Amino acid sequence: MNCLDIPKHIAIIMDGNGRWAKKHALPRRAGHVAGAKAIKPIVIHCNKIGVELLTLYAFSTENWNRPKDEVDSLLKLIRHYINNMYSYIKYNVKIRFFGDLRVFDQQIIDKMKQIEEEFDKNTGMTFGIAINYGGKDEIKNAAKEIARKVTAGELKLGDIKEKTIEEHLYTKGFSNVDLLIRPSGEYRISNFLIWQSAYAEFLFMENILWPDFKTKHIDIAIEEYNKRNRTYGSVK
Ligand code: FPP
Repeated sequence: MNCLDIPKHIAIIMDGNGRWAKKHALPRRAGHVAGAKAIKPIVIHCNKIGVELLTLYAFSTENWNRPKDEVDSLLKLIRHYINNMYSYIKYNVKIRFFGDLRVFDQQIIDKMKQIEEEFDKNTGMTFGIAINYGGKDEIKNAAKEIARKVTAGELKLGDIKEKTIEEHLYTKGFSNVDLLIRPSGEYRISNFLIWQSAYAEFLFMENILWPDFKTKHIDIAIEEYNKRNRTYGSVK
């Protein structure tokens, strides 16, 4: 990986769990369990190669439209995952949970806060997990809070900058997405980090489902990223 430009922020839409389960004649929830198992090696690898921020889409605001038993099993899996996240501390990563986290009970909310705080002394990559997250919901909430501040006289209308919006997003303090990866052959971003991906490079990987996603796929994605010409609307 020497001499390659490592994207600062990699975002991944972990798609294809259901198809993976079907392929193996297993229930959909088994696909999500396999998808959860695929995460750790990717986090360790991204941290090792110098990625600063890795964000994963675990549960979207639209995922509520799935059958109740699938929603329940996904949230149960995520809850179990969070309860076991202390094992990540040795990898020197920081952790951020973002989205409308009120979906969880106080025990899990406290646990997430505790993990974020305890891992903050680590010096490596930040691992962000989007839970009950939707880009439109995030921007709507930011707009509401900014409007409230204007109405209360805490903020002047003329002082609203792009930075003001960014400071009111769940991802406050995150850098913009450099590379957004979606395995499994779907060509959309499904409401993930829509503001933050304004100038991201997109890589839709066709022949791989998330539970089979390995560190080599990150390397392939970074090589592809290095072939892109990022002009940000200018000329190069
Ligand atoms: C999309 O696959 C995947 C999801 C909606 C959930 C992603 C969740 C995980 C990988 C595991 C849980 C996360 C954590 C952090 C423990 P899909 O079900 O839409 O697949 P399909 O398109 O093949 O049906």
